[in-house]
Amino acid sequence: MVSTLVRGAKNELYQFISYANTNEDAELIENFKQRWSHVSPCDATISLDKFQLIRTLGRGSFGRVVLALLKNDNINKNDGNKFYAIKVMDKRKLLRYKQIDHTLNERRVLYSLQHPNTVRYFFSFKDNSYIYLSIEFISGGDLFTYLRRTGKFNEKHVKFYAAQIFLVFEYLHHFDILYRDLKPENILIAENGYLKVTDFGFAKHVNGRTYTLCGTPDYLPPEIIKHKGYGKSVDWWTFAVLCFEMAAGQPPFSGKDHIQLYEAIVNQRYTCPSSFSMELADLIKKILVIDVTTRLGCLANGNKDIQNHPFFDSINFIKIYHQTENPNNIPYKPTKKDPLDPSSLSQPEEPIRVSRHNLHEEEFRMF
Ligand SMILES: Nc1ncnc2c1ncn2[C@@H]1O[C@H](COP(=O)(O)OP(=O)(O)O)[C@@H](O)[C@H]1O
Ligand SMILES: [Mg+2]
Repeated sequence: MVSTLVRGAKNELYQFISYANTNEDAELIENFKQRWSHVSPCDATISLDKFQLIRTLGRGSFGRVVLALLKNDNINKNDGNKFYAIKVMDKRKLLRYKQIDHTLNERRVLYSLQHPNTVRYFFSFKDNSYIYLSIEFISGGDLFTYLRRTGKFNEKHVKFYAAQIFLVFEYLHHFDILYRDLKPENILIAENGYLKVTDFGFAKHVNGRTYTLCGTPDYLPPEIIKHKGYGKSVDWWTFAVLCFEMAAGQPPFSGKDHIQLYEAIVNQRYTCPSSFSMELADLIKKILVIDVTTRLGCLANGNKDIQNHPFFDSINFIKIYHQTENPNNIPYKPTKKDPLDPSSLSQPEEPIRVSRHNLHEEEFRMF
């Protein structure tokens, strides 16, 4: 009886995506809609030579993300920032791999978002060879690097991170946006120890179902492998894979090649280590279910079933959303480093070579 009352109270408090009240929710929703329908195009006043490139922060399939310092000249971005993480994407590669639409989606989603656990977007620009997205620089590195260094996390730590990913998916799904690329590489750790999700390259507004094959092998849900139409269910699958990987130090499914890996996924072949608590194993078991109609997160109560799962009983989502959690409950704070400190410059930054000809100008007209 007591636990029913507690559960009821939790549901009531957690009904707002702003974790505040109806007014705040209305404002968040209005802001999102406004921005979604008026995405600002490239800023023609900005070019790469306005920045000093400091070092590569990470690499991906279509380019790299570079830490850049805005030079002291007369451009006034009015956002109080000097350092930017600039995602540099090669137009030729994007065209070759048919990623132009994904890039447009990425900018539109980034521009529209307003969430404490997602990176902030500032502006975009382009030149003869590349397109550029400037986002907030997050100094604590990515979760992939930190997890590999640590091995695995204790469950308190897993809960703190998983709760924040839950909040991001709850917000995105509210606007019918699928994220589709959850993995530790796309999650950054901010200076205050809270997470910031980055890389919206596969994020897409989907009202109903979509069929595109995208994601990362270890995290691919069975419905994508089987080329079935899919919706929000895919994000919850990856959520469980991430919880498993954080607690075990490796993802649940494995195989000596991609074919074997996919076989393991579509046959739900995995085992939770005996070190997992009953609650964590139960949460994972209820989400890593092949049939999406019986997968937790996709039932009548939607994502609330995940939030109300006993694994999250000790989590106060309101405090996590507003980043007012007791500092003792923040499991890890990255050491503060001056981005210009020569010790962070492991190798000289390789230059970005721009063609003398404007490549694929017409195809990237919309950017
Ligand atoms: N805002 C940022 N601040 C710091 N590092 C970042 C930022 N964005 C991305 N990175 C680093 O760059 C890597 C690649 O960025 P990402 O957007 O994921 O590119 P891709 O779409 O090519 O995977 C990330 O895994 C992360 O290590
Ligand atoms: Mg990425």
